[in-house]
Amino acid sequence: MRMTGRRVVLCVLSASLLGLGFSNIGVKDLTALPKGGDSVSGREIYVNTCIRCHGIDGKGTLGIKLVPPPADLTSSAVQDRLDGTLFRRIHEGKPNTAMGAWKHSLSDEEIWDVLAYVRTFRAELDGQP
Ligand code: HEC
Repeated sequence: MRMTGRRVVLCVLSASLLGLGFSNIGVKDLTALPKGGDSVSGREIYVNTCIRCHGIDGKGTLGIKLVPPPADLTSSAVQDRLDGTLFRRIHEGKPNTAMGAWKHSLSDEEIWDVLAYVRTFRAELDGQP
């Protein structure tokens, strides 16, 4: 059986519609950031305060020897946590680790911003094949 010209056009059309649908899902994931969190100013905070332990890509800094080591912020162990849990971890820190309480130097708004930036590491995780 031969495809008629019209069928071919239909196929191409639905394929591109499907493609569009998928790329829309991707865009939605990227924008699923905490309310009020601005990942652009969060990036600045991250670079100034978090990068020295967590590294430019969130996977930790080579050469830093901490026990326990800084959490891999791209890992699903971290990214699967709720926004509220991560907010509290950054706010209060973790006892007996190098992860300090940032509530003394960052406002709540700044913590939401830096968390929004930490969430962009999840987008990178999703982008992997
Ligand atoms: C002095 C080093 C250091 C700095 C600076 C630091 N962290 Fe951490 N961070 C750690 C360590 C170590 C852990 C792992 C603690 C553990 O083993 O659970 C951690 C864990 C975390 C976690 C994972 C918590 C969890 O749920 O397990 C998050 C999120 C995090 N840090 C975010 C940040 C952010 C955001 C900043 C900057 C505001 C920051 N950290 C600055 C050392 C640091």
